[in-house]
Formats: sequence, C-alpha cells, structure tokens
Amino acid sequence: DQARLAHTPGWRVEVVPETPSTNAVVSARAREGTAEGLVVTTEHQTAGRGRLDRGWEMPPRAAIAVSVLLRPDVPAERWPWLPLMAGVAVVETVRELGCDAGLKWPNDVLVHGRKLCGILVERVEGPAGSKPGAAAVVGIGLNTSLTADELPVPTATSLAIESGAPVDRTEVLVTLLAHLATAYDAWRERPDELAAAYGRLSVTVGERVRAELPGRSALVGQATGIDPWGRLEVRPDQGGESVAVGAGDVVHLR
Ligand code: BTN
Repeated sequence: DQARLAHTPGWRVEVVPETPSTNAVVSARAREGTAEGLVVTTEHQTAGRGRLDRGWEMPPRAAIAVSVLLRPDVPAERWPWLPLMAGVAVVETVRELGCDAGLKWPNDVLVHGRKLCGILVERVEGPAGSKPGAAAVVGIGLNTSLTADELPVPTATSLAIESGAPVDRTEVLVTLLAHLATAYDAWRERPDELAAAYGRLSVTVGERVRAELPGRSALVGQATGIDPWGRLEVRPDQGGESVAVGAGDVVHLR
C-alpha cells in the first residue's frame, strides 16, 4: 500500500517488489551519498542478511523486511547503541499492537520466548574525506506469517500467530516507523532516557546467562546491565570482575 507509506512523517519510503536484501539496497544508496531518512521495504526478500554472518529467511509476504538509512550526528563511539535503539522501537510497536514482547540482548524481539523479529545494523563508510560521511543501515525483519508452517525456524513466532488475527502489514510498518523516529530522537538527544526504556523492556538483564564468545570459552553468570557501548555486563558465577560481552550468542539459563 504505497500511498499510505508515502505519507510517513520524516521518512522517504520506497517499495521494491523483490530484492536479495533491503540492507544491501540501502547500503548501496548510502555509499552513493543518499541523505538520511531513506526507507526501503519489499514483499519478497530472497537472500536476507542476519547477524553474526548468518542469513535471514523470509517466505514471500510472510514478514516485514525493511531497512532505514540513518546518518547520526553523534560520536561514533555511541553508535553501538543503534541496534538496541531499534529494538526499543520494535518492542514498543509490537506492544502497541497488543503483543507482550521483550528484548533479548542485544536486540532479538521475543514473545513467549519465541523470536518475532531480528535486527541487523550495518555501518557503511562514505568515500574517504567525503561529506556526508559514514551511515548506519538499520534492517528489521518482523515475522507476520499466518501459520506456523510459514515460519523460517521452529523457534520463531509471528505477529499474526501471537495476536490470533491477520495483521495489516502497512499499518504495522507505519507504526514501526513512527516509533523508530521517536526512539532515534531519544537516543540522539536523551540517551539516558533511551537506556532506561531499554532496561524496562529487557528480558535478559537480571537473568542467568551463558555467553558464547567468539574465540574464547563460554562465560556463565548473571546479566547485570548494559554498558554505555551497548555491551551486556555479566558477573561470572566463578567470581571475579564483570565481563562486558560485545558480540556472540547469549543463552538464557533457568
Ligand atoms: C538477525 O540475525 O536476527 C537479524 C536479521 C535481520 C533481517 C532484516 S530483514 C530486512 C533487512 N535486510 C536484510 O538483509 N536483513 C535485515
């Protein structure tokens, strides 16, 4: 429904019928110098990109795949908070639509322990010395499939399954873009407020976790908070100083 999307405040929405990856499309446009605010969405993403060099599968029209071009005017050391910022926007969207979602660090959106949405933020450098410089491409994949057999993996869920009714995907996207604009402003101007919102929505902080760290042995302990760089702070069971986990897989332990 391109007409409704065309009037989303603050964003310029383009709909493409089919593409390997909306993140790839927006990254290419970012490298060409396109201004902040471009949004690309598709009905059919054929080779989606996921976190940790994984893929992201999406049956046609069974998910919202969207990528947003941002050029944040904040110091680069704060950019690692962008994926968490996007997670806040998605959870607020999903809650507004009536599903009780939470955020598994860093930004998996879970409903009843199942993954509803994945977020991949990629940094794109501009040509050396050029203006505008670096950009961030925020990619969001939100499952909307009607039935469980359309889900990419058995541990996933969808907005339609959780709410018990088909969803209006245009409506969801319009709501998401509104929350993204609000969360993005909060992150730039009132980072403490955004961090507090993240903390309220987190289902990881306060839990016992096992973190699989790239190139190291696993770390088991209590998740105690998020640091200013968006890393998960874990107090090891074996004692010693808290460890800040920046990448890798985190599993919740009961
Ligand atoms: C994850 O691994 O959890 C993140 C998945 C991110 C998927 C989205 S779908 C829209 C955008 N385009 C891509 O190629 N990936 C992201």
